Amino acid sequence: MESFNIGLGNNDNETRKLANSDYVHFWDEQAKNLSWFSPWQKTLEWTPPFAKWFVGGKINASYNALDIHQSTRSKKPAIMWEGENGESRVITYADMWTQVQKLANSLKSLGVKKGDRVTIYLPMIPELPISMLACSRIGATHTVIFSGFSASSIRDRVEDSKSKIIITADGGYRRGSIVPLKEVIDEAISGLNFVKNVIVFERTKTKIQLNDKDVLWNDLLKEASDTCTPEHLESSHPLFILYTSGTTGKPKGVLHGTGGYLTHLYSTFKWAFDIKDSDIFFCTADIGWVTGHSYVVYAPLLHGATEVMYEGAPDFPDASRIWDIIQKYHVTIFYTTPTSLRMFIKFGDDIPNSFDLSSIRLLGTVGEPINPEVWKWYYSVIGKEKCPIIDTWWQTETGGMLISALPGLETIPLKPGSGTLPIPGISMSVVDENGTDLPPNTKGYLIIKNPWPGMLLTLWGDDTKYKNVYWSKFKNCYYPGDFAIRDDDGYFWLLGRADDVLKVAGHRIGTAELESCIVSHSDVSESAVCGIPDDVKGEVIISFVVLKESSSKPHDSLREEIVSKIRNEIGAIATPKQIYFVSKLPKTRSGKIMRRLLKSIASNDQIGDISTLEDGAAVSEVQSAFDDLKNSIQEKK
Ligand code: WTA
Repeated sequence: MESFNIGLGNNDNETRKLANSDYVHFWDEQAKNLSWFSPWQKTLEWTPPFAKWFVGGKINASYNALDIHQSTRSKKPAIMWEGENGESRVITYADMWTQVQKLANSLKSLGVKKGDRVTIYLPMIPELPISMLACSRIGATHTVIFSGFSASSIRDRVEDSKSKIIITADGGYRRGSIVPLKEVIDEAISGLNFVKNVIVFERTKTKIQLNDKDVLWNDLLKEASDTCTPEHLESSHPLFILYTSGTTGKPKGVLHGTGGYLTHLYSTFKWAFDIKDSDIFFCTADIGWVTGHSYVVYAPLLHGATEVMYEGAPDFPDASRIWDIIQKYHVTIFYTTPTSLRMFIKFGDDIPNSFDLSSIRLLGTVGEPINPEVWKWYYSVIGKEKCPIIDTWWQTETGGMLISALPGLETIPLKPGSGTLPIPGISMSVVDENGTDLPPNTKGYLIIKNPWPGMLLTLWGDDTKYKNVYWSKFKNCYYPGDFAIRDDDGYFWLLGRADDVLKVAGHRIGTAELESCIVSHSDVSESAVCGIPDDVKGEVIISFVVLKESSSKPHDSLREEIVSKIRNEIGAIATPKQIYFVSKLPKTRSGKIMRRLLKSIASNDQIGDISTLEDGAAVSEVQSAFDDLKNSIQEKK
């Protein structure tokens, strides 16, 4: 296997040694990098599967992100913001501090108390991290919703979290047009009496209708004092809920705490990105996803770093936008997704080659497996063969990275397509169905054998589901739902989801959630969706639909109706690339849909080896289900 000996020359063997000898003591040492109001009495309270880190310790996230930098970095830019339409704003650590305290006081004046939930539905503007930090300052739990989600998705999340306050904007810019965020919120919260107020930031200055509950951000902050003492919160105080798709019909509210989460982020940001005070960090992730929470908002601010935040689409107004931003701000560390890289490759090398990217010293990716060819393109065309690439594996639930090369800590050979090794303090393995360790180079389930500080506390309001989803498949081990291989050098290769979750352009979409949306169309009796490989998005959605006997509408109009239903109820990201109408779905005798068979059909594959296809189905049955399905697609086309 080809490997690249590139690093930054750091070689700190002590960290791994300490972590291997006693991971609890190791994390205890790492937590001391943060500022605590009072020390903890116990490093870890582990009542499987519930972990409490730094028990008894008192801490505040916004204090660690802002207050601690005021004596040394108050004039340093925290965020260099680039608007989609070319505007720019520089927000220093002092500015952020003032705005956060004003908003925190405003939230208090609206009756928000420690433990209350606040929903945030904002575009990628500095007011989004400001809102998150204002919540954390007073101990309110924020729940950020990606601004591409529809009214009905928002309503589900607001109802589940029982948010008292919503923070939104009049609109947001996306590819030159304005997304009417406030209108979407009005629809989402109509009739929800527990929502007391909606704070509206005027981003686009478009005309909006103000209702009784609405307050303008500027009016509210004008009156507010700019000093707000941070709450001294228990280490496991819930910092945020972030909803993510799983294998059940409804998104899960992943709940994260404070002290453990921040410790994990502080450490991984230092080890993986080798962050220095002089760096300009740029992560392209939207804050509506976990990557944005962890590595746009909390981790860089904990380190007092300067980062670039971009409001709009990466290819707007043209394909050079990201390289232009890197050149303009002299970005030194760039963190993006394989989907974006595949899109950039399609646009051609001339575009990045015509920009000065020499400021870059470190590159990273996240969210999906990176194809080795894409890795090599990133390495040579963007990194000019001098920058290490970190391929970081983690999840909404893990809070921060768990597998990644760590150039800030050590120099190891990089292998394109492998995330390399688990971070210190994490014990992982690849196992078979029974939880037995597999020999090297054998595909199996990835498991995590010990708790870690960034680990989710639970699923919001559903401890049972938390236990079932993550801790029931393998005894006392966390099951992330991914396939992996470990090679002879102990490097991990992530091979995609082992469960019914799709990864479309890096976004998680649960098949069950999508299927239940399609089935709620009055003409549909059954539906199954699957993902097939795509050159740019990694995976795209194909959906199979069985119509009711009574359905008489033309297929084209049904396709349109189903697509618009999905857009309205989930969001545009869940739109299938193709909808096939079929007479029945291929199922095993026990009623399980043969998903691999759907995948084969959708990608025009041969049926392949079906001897191990699905349990309970005879080979002849699978073959005939395959033929039936293929014929029924042809007939109905
Ligand atoms: C996938 C994103 C391969 C994986 C931070 C995981 C990856 C899911 C990688 C979590 C990577 C994330 N290589 N696969 N470097 N990073 N994944 O919650 O399937 O949006 O389980 O978190 O993304 O997605 P989530």
